[in-house]
Amino acid sequence: MQIDVLRQSFSGRLYTSATDMEPFLTDWRKKWKGDALAVVQPDTTEDVAAIVRLCHQQGVPVVPQGGNTGLSGGATPDNSKSAILLSLARLKRIRSIDIENNSLVAEAGVILEEIHQAASKVNRLFPLKLASQGSCTIGGNLATNAGGIQVLRYGNTRELCLGVEVVTPEGEIWNGLCELRKNNTGYSLRDLYIGSEGTLGIITAAAIKLFPIPTTTLLGILSVPTPEAALHLLHLSQGNFGAELTAFEIMSDFSVSLVEKNIPDRRLPLTERGDWYVFLEISSLYNEEQVRAAFEQLLERGMEAELIRDGLICQNMSQFTKMWAIREDIAEAQVIEGKSIKHDISVPLSKIAACIDAVTQQVEQRYPALRQVVYGHIGDGNLHYNFCPAASEYAADFMQLEAEINRQVHDIVDQCAGSISAEHGLGVLRRDEAARYKSATEIKLMSAIKKALDPHSMMNPGKVLR
Ligand code: FAD
Ligand code: MLT
Ligand code: ZN
Repeated sequence: MQIDVLRQSFSGRLYTSATDMEPFLTDWRKKWKGDALAVVQPDTTEDVAAIVRLCHQQGVPVVPQGGNTGLSGGATPDNSKSAILLSLARLKRIRSIDIENNSLVAEAGVILEEIHQAASKVNRLFPLKLASQGSCTIGGNLATNAGGIQVLRYGNTRELCLGVEVVTPEGEIWNGLCELRKNNTGYSLRDLYIGSEGTLGIITAAAIKLFPIPTTTLLGILSVPTPEAALHLLHLSQGNFGAELTAFEIMSDFSVSLVEKNIPDRRLPLTERGDWYVFLEISSLYNEEQVRAAFEQLLERGMEAELIRDGLICQNMSQFTKMWAIREDIAEAQVIEGKSIKHDISVPLSKIAACIDAVTQQVEQRYPALRQVVYGHIGDGNLHYNFCPAASEYAADFMQLEAEINRQVHDIVDQCAGSISAEHGLGVLRRDEAARYKSATEIKLMSAIKKALDPHSMMNPGKVLR
């Protein structure tokens, strides 16, 4: 492709030097490194379409990128230097907010936190909450169908989306920015693009749902003896609070200790350490006094039933924010600690305790030098089941264990009728493994969709499907 022709085809930025392109060509964990003919940052949907049309004519693949916080290598091109990396970072407008309809239309490059702020300005909530919310984009959230800590109450990104605008692999614009809650008029194209990780088209804007801001939000920090006890506590909390139970996260003591070691000013305030902690958030339209009293009652019941060993309810918003930061910083604390082998699994709640036992036993027996960093969205049956080496001298050959450990963890997850990627997508990280656990029919159907929408495999080639 002639770069001059590309430059003239759109308004926005274009980078070709290795230094300018470098931040776009590696991922957040620096696990993958690729190369590209150029990095482009168009200004508008029409500019995206013009670039994609040119790429289509010239047979040049396109790799879409949002905030580049993805954890499955989906936003990094391969190193053949044959693709254009298309960053949506300059599509930054919030196009409209319809307060009466509780909806907002944002362009793909709007940072998730900016959407929170825009919603809050009109006294509404956009409830997608991820530790990466200061950098990830709504386009990336949709492309990965991101989860996070409030799925229990509000659902994944898919459930929060009403409509999308998409540039197709031929460079046409499909305006699917429907703001309706009900619309049964044939195949749901919106749902095909959500979670497709840039392999079917480029999401350039989205219509999303807004919610009332709860009057009271309280967070409990609880020490629990086992994951099984955490699950009993989950059911007890659901029985008491129903949909007001907003988040239910678990983390092992070792996960918390990594944060305390590697991130300044982080300390769990419990007097006695336990093996596991639950962060339990209730949000309600009732006033704080009522909700706090009901929360205290729940904790008393939990203690009587020996589900909780120790615990506290955050006293104010400042403590609330500080405590959530401990949970949110686990991913970063692991990166600071060194290399880790990560998993993002989900199993039915009824099987989660058995799944944890099986993985723990197998890994402890076969790899006694590994440390398990287990945490995640247990309320959704989703755990990040990670490993790091016990001492730095193991670090050099540690990553060579990745494939065999993946196989062992994922075989157990499969036996528990679970998923090997709950919220991070397949990208390249889980692409080949997914093919092992899906049926031939499912792979055939997925390939047929890819072929129908992107027959020349120009959109993010090699991701999701080989
Ligand atoms: P990118 O990383 O840029 O891209 C991700 C994928 O989407 C790639 O395949 C890319 O090609 C494609 N893509 C991006 N934008 C578009 C677009 N506009 N159109 C089409 N395709 C596109 N994820 C969770 O689900 N839950 C969590 O709790 C969570 N916590 C995280 C915490 C940290 C500290 C970090 C670093 C990541 C976390 N993530 C989590 C993963 C990540 O933040 C999400 O997957 C997020 O949705 C990615 O958004 P992004 O804009 O950074 O996308
Ligand atoms: C999280 O829940 O913290 C994220 O999904 C990131 C991670 O898996 O480490
Ligand atoms: Zn997560």
